[in-house]
Amino acid sequence: MFDLVIKNARIARPDGTCTEGDLACQDGLVKRVGGEVTADAAETIDARGHLLLPGVIDPQVHFREPGATHKEDLGSGSRAAVRGGVTSFLEMPNCSPATTDQTQLDWKLARAQRTCVANFGFFIGATKDNLTSLNSVEPACGIKIFMGSSTGDLLVDDHESLDRIFSNGTRLIAVHAEDEERINQRSAELIPSSGNPPPYSLHSEVRDPETALIATRRAVELSQKYGRRLHVLHLSTAREVEYLRTNKPGQITSEVIPNHLFLDTTDYDRLGSRAQMNPPIRDPDNASVLWQGLHDGVIDIIATDHAPHTLEEKSKPYPHSPGGMPGVETSLPLMLTQMNAGKCTLAEIQAWMCEGPARTYGIPNKGRIEEGFDADLVLVDLNHTHEVRDEEVFSRAGWSPYSGRQLSGWPLYTVVGGRVVFDNGQIRPGVFGSALNFADADA
Ligand code: DOR
Repeated sequence: MFDLVIKNARIARPDGTCTEGDLACQDGLVKRVGGEVTADAAETIDARGHLLLPGVIDPQVHFREPGATHKEDLGSGSRAAVRGGVTSFLEMPNCSPATTDQTQLDWKLARAQRTCVANFGFFIGATKDNLTSLNSVEPACGIKIFMGSSTGDLLVDDHESLDRIFSNGTRLIAVHAEDEERINQRSAELIPSSGNPPPYSLHSEVRDPETALIATRRAVELSQKYGRRLHVLHLSTAREVEYLRTNKPGQITSEVIPNHLFLDTTDYDRLGSRAQMNPPIRDPDNASVLWQGLHDGVIDIIATDHAPHTLEEKSKPYPHSPGGMPGVETSLPLMLTQMNAGKCTLAEIQAWMCEGPARTYGIPNKGRIEEGFDADLVLVDLNHTHEVRDEEVFSRAGWSPYSGRQLSGWPLYTVVGGRVVFDNGQIRPGVFGSALNFADADA
């Protein structure tokens, strides 16, 4: 007797091939892959030949709890996640109060345990004086350093503090790499202090490619100096990719987000401040180099940097409009639509969005469909195309920068820990995710 059997599926294997047949789950694990499962099951789903993938692990989201739950909380963010086929997420510390010590981390874990329908893990945020917490709190997927300011008040921009953090401890350090000094200098030069507000597109000039490159180079140099495990979050520029192509020793990984692959500065005309984020969207010729970096392995994984703000907040004049866009529920359909168009493969999508994040953060037993692995799964419909619509967005933000786009590969079912949580557009009550383990995080 199994807990769940998914029949007649095209089951994605890590090498990009597919096994036709049935998949059985029991006690939260995948027990059988392929062939025909005839044993009884508490629930049986007919996949009708659709593609079954490992659940996506989104390793960078902002879910705003505590402090700004009018735009998201851990529950609503996790519901948006499973709508998009994301079964595990790693959440950033820039909430209010920020997640900078064991007390705040424990609060989030307890809250997530009660409200999250996907599996969850949390970063610990670096300040200039919480070194002991950075290396002792458990469980944390890594240390987050904002080298340049963004939403919230976390910022570590001086060399002495950065050197101290990189030289103490072994835990993974993930950096938001933008140089604060250059941001301040260019803000003073470019943003008029009076008169009409400037266009939102000025944001991409204020935080220009050099702003990102300076900070990425600095983080890489610190990692090299101390041999410290480093993950460069949301690489956004061709110049960073070219730099990392020759400066990326084994202890360094990097990531890109869909916004830098699918949006560019021409989108400000259409989207205004909806397209504003940190690091900013770039010129149209930039994305092809990011894609190449992904194909070549210079960029290891895809995250979303899901960063919800309300449209009212977004409508403030620049520079008072906040940076960030929701994205956790559109990343998989965006990528599968690319796959359908022949721009990437099923093996690459699994490597970038499932297995890669598991490896990067040392999350055991996830990221591939294999007997004995956790039963975190998503069944997608590659043949049906559906438009992204603000009014259908699950995120409390209530909008998407991709509204109006026709995407295929939307989830039909999302399974977390062997239980169906997203069922044809609806969240099933009573299913919750679990806290993630980070087995190799300190290795
Ligand atoms: O645009 C952004 N928004 N970038 C970040 O790094 C933070 C995020 C947020 O939390 O709003």
